[in-house]
Amino acid sequence: MTGPTRIIAGNWKMNGTGESLDEARAVAEALAQSPAAVRVALCPPATLIWRMKEALGAGPVEIGGQDCHAEREGAYTGDVSAEMLTDAGARLVILGHSERRAMHGETDAFVAAKVRAALSAGLEPIICVGETLAEREAGQAEQIVERQLLASLPEALAGQAFAVAYEPVWAIGTGRVAEPADIATMHAHIRAVLARHLGDSGDRAPILYGGSVKPSNAAETLSVPEVGGALVGGASLKASDFLGIIRAA
Ligand code: PGA
Repeated sequence: MTGPTRIIAGNWKMNGTGESLDEARAVAEALAQSPAAVRVALCPPATLIWRMKEALGAGPVEIGGQDCHAEREGAYTGDVSAEMLTDAGARLVILGHSERRAMHGETDAFVAAKVRAALSAGLEPIICVGETLAEREAGQAEQIVERQLLASLPEALAGQAFAVAYEPVWAIGTGRVAEPADIATMHAHIRAVLARHLGDSGDRAPILYGGSVKPSNAAETLSVPEVGGALVGGASLKASDFLGIIRAA
């Protein structure tokens, strides 16, 4: 049996204006000339989704949002709904990123509601989980991640395409990457929880690793069993770095 289709997804976070589209174009052009062995996605800020879609068209780079609201529409100043992302050209959406959980107080239940909204709008969610350093040092990493998975992944995901991203909070933007052995243990645990909770779809969903993935560490990280791709922050902002990671996959 072949494994799940791997994904390398770039999360631009709150970075990028019109001129950054040149980096996205450079990625798309390089992949048009020499196709990637994996799915490739870029998740720019909401203001750039439509412009990126126009710039890249139906090429080799899929476009995703970084978050969406759980409701379809309404009095939610500043928020963006899943339908709006689809309308703007997104196919995927990152949900439950640790920065949203920590800075916007997003609970597992709220993340699950957003996942349902994303599925109704036809978006493929990439659902993020991960422990803090204190939780890892207390020996609770697997327990915390299992609790996040069970509460953030609604049963509605059964039969749907989705991905999970394991992002240890202490590895995000810090230059620290988890040890391959720890990544292997955690990804095997996540796979077991997904398969138990969601059956076949849980068996098929790619499990991405995220946290300071760079061209220099991508090959090692991506060769760990059950690592089905990467969610890349800082190193997705420059086409050359992002392509370095894609080529390592
Ligand atoms: P980083 O971010 O690659 O800059 O560590 C990863 C993420 O937050 O998705």
